Amino acid sequence: HAAEGKQNGNLYRDYVDDRNANSEDVVYTTSNGVPYPHPYESQRVGENGPLLLQDFHLVDLLSHFDRERIPERVVHAKGAGAHGYYKTTNSLEDLSMADIFKEGKTCPITVRFSTVGGESGSHDCARDPRGFSVKLRTDEGNWDIVANNTPVFFLRDPAKFPHFIHTQKRAPDTHLTHADDSTLFWDYASQNPESVHQFLILFGDRGIPDGYRKMHGYHGHTHKLVNKNGDWVYCQIHMKSKQGTGFITQEDSQSYGPDYSTKDLFQAIEKGDYPGWDVEVQTMTPKEAEELWEKQKINVFDLTHVWPQSQFPRRKVGEFFLNENVKNYFAEIEQVAFNPAHLVPGIEPSADPVLQSRLFSYPDTHRHRIGVNYQQLPVNAPRVPYRFGNFQRDGGMAFYNQGSRPNYLSSIQPISFRERSVDLDKLHGHFVGDAVTFLSEIRPEDFNAPRALWEKVFDEPARERFIKNITGHMENCTDKEIIKRQIAIFREVSEDIASRMEKATGIKGYPGISELRFNGTHNGMAKDAKL
Ligand code: HEM
Repeated sequence: HAAEGKQNGNLYRDYVDDRNANSEDVVYTTSNGVPYPHPYESQRVGENGPLLLQDFHLVDLLSHFDRERIPERVVHAKGAGAHGYYKTTNSLEDLSMADIFKEGKTCPITVRFSTVGGESGSHDCARDPRGFSVKLRTDEGNWDIVANNTPVFFLRDPAKFPHFIHTQKRAPDTHLTHADDSTLFWDYASQNPESVHQFLILFGDRGIPDGYRKMHGYHGHTHKLVNKNGDWVYCQIHMKSKQGTGFITQEDSQSYGPDYSTKDLFQAIEKGDYPGWDVEVQTMTPKEAEELWEKQKINVFDLTHVWPQSQFPRRKVGEFFLNENVKNYFAEIEQVAFNPAHLVPGIEPSADPVLQSRLFSYPDTHRHRIGVNYQQLPVNAPRVPYRFGNFQRDGGMAFYNQGSRPNYLSSIQPISFRERSVDLDKLHGHFVGDAVTFLSEIRPEDFNAPRALWEKVFDEPARERFIKNITGHMENCTDKEIIKRQIAIFREVSEDIASRMEKATGIKGYPGISELRFNGTHNGMAKDAKL
């Protein structure tokens, strides 16, 4: 591990040199590099007089301090990460022309794990999905997998995302989170039944994983793999923890420190116990996707559903290990910018509307959060075996501004182009299906996968924990009507869940959702099927 990590290196050479320098080898200077005898010196008029504005050393110190914070991530603000390497163990060349999928190919990676709803200083053991992002610095540019520890998501219409997230954040009036008042949280859930699968997972054992090492990662979205002939298949990416999975119960979570997962990851790497994950794919032809929709009503572009593993088995492609702790959290983790649009030739986005929206949202937030030239930062910069360039110039902090090379497509000093590997028309095919405007129409099939989870995956103690977790959280919901609706949604999954919730809350839920209206979602199970 150590040899591979070293050989790969991760960041620009001069940055690596600088972050490895010992303090004894560093001379104390002001920001313009002028040596200064001691940091605790201020220029003052006399013994008790005011300070002098000419004291650049002090002004330099304080003004930089005043600007230390950048906006935290609007979601996934609390996180931890490390560096390592990826290796393809089983060629995927039959399905994808991505160079990284050639057998034996390896590349340096940076991984960041996170919780979702809490702020940067929030508790690592919150009941929340976990983010799982991987930046693979391949020889064809950076490929980012920006995934979660759950295979499904709360929604399939991206327009709902800000609404949903706002209910997970502090309330506008009280500034309290759902730990104190869960009314808004359950208001959202009870109005958007397609989120039930994810809520079942969230309030089950996987809702508080035992640190970041013992959890799987799932991209969840369908992607496309394109091979060198231009043939393509749909694909799902899974990252399976070599450490296995583990969870922390709601009660036990109280006794863990706020940075438990961060510390667990750091300490494991520090003592050479490098965590690893297998990378696996499920694949499906466009024809199979069409049949899956016709026969089983599972749409491959619907993030609230999973691909049945019995029909679409997993195939191992590679593995990765984390073998290097960061030297500087801010430079290497806070400023790292993962983006689902960072794809390499041979891996394409699908038409999944949530994925399509994410392709826009991430680079947009990076320009705001880090700055327009964020791709030039050592942790984000590509490390490719060719000199790369384009016509982007200037902007804040443009320290790699491409020298004197023309800033337009010049015929005097032409830039070189790499040939396209596959005809464009072959890349953009999709299974399209019928046109729909409302993306969240509720159908009976929406409840099949959560039902299987409850009946076949959860054992009896897990079911009991789920009921305790969810009804415990509902104790802080001040509106009984919301709970009645939420029980009705769970009744569509299983009468067993609904009746156990009724017993625990003492509230009788509605008999089902056919009489209910949802404020953001067509109810395809309602008798007159209107909004
Ligand atoms: C972070 C937007 C859905 C996984 C973020 C960030 C934004 C965002 C703005 C902050 C990024 C940054 O500041 O660097 C959205 C939108 C979504 C969506 C608009 C849906 C419409 C998802 C889904 C997943 C996901 C479905 C997982 C499958 C993540 C992860 C991070 C993140 C892992 C943290 C990245 C890091 O570690 O830096 N999201 N997100 N998001 N999102 Fe999403």
